[in-house]
Amino acid sequence: MRLLNSRKRLQVGDGTMDDIDKIRTSVLSRIRPGDAEKQKLHELAHSMIERIDDLGKIEGLDIRARLVGSSARGTWLAGERDLDIFIMFQPDVTREFLEEKGLFVARKIAEKAESCEERYAEHPYISAVFDGFEVDIVPAFGVHSAADIRSAVDRTPFHNNYVLPRIRGFEDEVLLMKQFMKGAGIYGSELKTHGFSGYLVELLVIHCGSFMDVLEAACGWKPGMTIDIEKHASMEHKDPLVVVDPTDPDRNVAASLSLDNLCIFIDRACEFLENPDASYFNVKVPDVLDDDGFRKMMKARGTSLIAIEFRAPDVVEDVLFPQLHKMEESVKEMLERYDFRVYNSAVRADANAVLIFELEASGLPDLKKHAGPQVWSRQHALAFKSKYSDSIAFSNIHIRDGKYMVEIPRKYSNAKKLAVMELSKCSLGKHVGLSIKEGYRILEGDEILKIRDEEFRRFLRRFFEK
Ligand code: UTP
Ligand code: MN
Repeated sequence: MRLLNSRKRLQVGDGTMDDIDKIRTSVLSRIRPGDAEKQKLHELAHSMIERIDDLGKIEGLDIRARLVGSSARGTWLAGERDLDIFIMFQPDVTREFLEEKGLFVARKIAEKAESCEERYAEHPYISAVFDGFEVDIVPAFGVHSAADIRSAVDRTPFHNNYVLPRIRGFEDEVLLMKQFMKGAGIYGSELKTHGFSGYLVELLVIHCGSFMDVLEAACGWKPGMTIDIEKHASMEHKDPLVVVDPTDPDRNVAASLSLDNLCIFIDRACEFLENPDASYFNVKVPDVLDDDGFRKMMKARGTSLIAIEFRAPDVVEDVLFPQLHKMEESVKEMLERYDFRVYNSAVRADANAVLIFELEASGLPDLKKHAGPQVWSRQHALAFKSKYSDSIAFSNIHIRDGKYMVEIPRKYSNAKKLAVMELSKCSLGKHVGLSIKEGYRILEGDEILKIRDEEFRRFLRRFFEK
């Protein structure tokens, strides 16, 4: 292990190697899967693979099941209980064939599951629970090279082939890295999180050598960094971090990582190196914010809060969250267009979706100053004058800084009223749009306390305290 390389740098800060070793040992004892869990996972994976392969033979299908993802690499965090099983088809079958037969096999296997759900990514797959494990059964084309993939999931077996021989002996480094990122709230490449994927973490460890080496490197990163382990990049990417996929020169493995999550990682890496502490590996769950706490918080901040609540459409999170963020942006843009300054906004979803906006103030004066054209552009001047001369205005048309100016009544002096009247004009994604058509409510200030859900109250505290 290259851990000793870090000695020099570490003694600059307060930490020593002794501290780091203690932290590693105590964190690993909690996140490294135990022998019983490993055995259970392997038995389950083995039996699933055997059943799929047998079913293939019975049905005369040329398929082969494969275990992929972190459970195939020994890099899963204790208690995660997630299994990724791929059904590999011959590369030349049609997409329809793969979808139909793949689902048929997956459904058959899932008959014995405790629960199961069909999901749709690029093509359908099944997510089922066996023995407390969440098993994703995913049909894929068994192409011969990553350059020939026909669907995004086809890359996954190539990831496995690349990572497996290189990660042996470094599993603990991956576990520490994943848990460190969980502690920072930046683990997971789903569109809900926009963080680091498991594969990305493994590549960083392969590239840098150890958990500490990744942190040392990251502390010196700037957005715009490129890591190209195989030195084979074939195109430019404009993402905050570029890690060229060793199995596909066109792809950036860090494509879904947001700028802020990258920066959280850079900041945390530097902080940890200066002052190593086991608390970095703890996932913080905010306390519930009760009614009293909420009122005190709002009074102290002096801002206004608006919430929009509606039933969350029944689609996977990777479809839902981009639509919620699109709605957040479009409502924010509308509020700003009507002069309401938005300080913070956020979204959350379980059965219901909620968007919240913190405003400088939810009320504005009835008067609005409205600027017109420059006095010397006569055509525009005439149009402006004819439009505002006989409207009910607070002032005559006058001249300020070479432009016409008039003080008129504001269309919306209250943000909630604006949202109620104009929400339907905001641009919304397909599923969110349909859900909004079915109904929604807009709450302001203390009305937000009508949402009693505990998870929402935790979300509120995180929203304020960040
Ligand atoms: P998982 O999301 O289950 O990740 O995807 P993981 O590597 O098993 O890590 P855990 O579960 O968080 O410990 C399974 C595989 O699908 C591919 C990767 O090859 C990954 O190993 N994948 C997944 C991607 O290529 N990109 C993604 O964004 C997600
Ligand atoms: Mn996984």
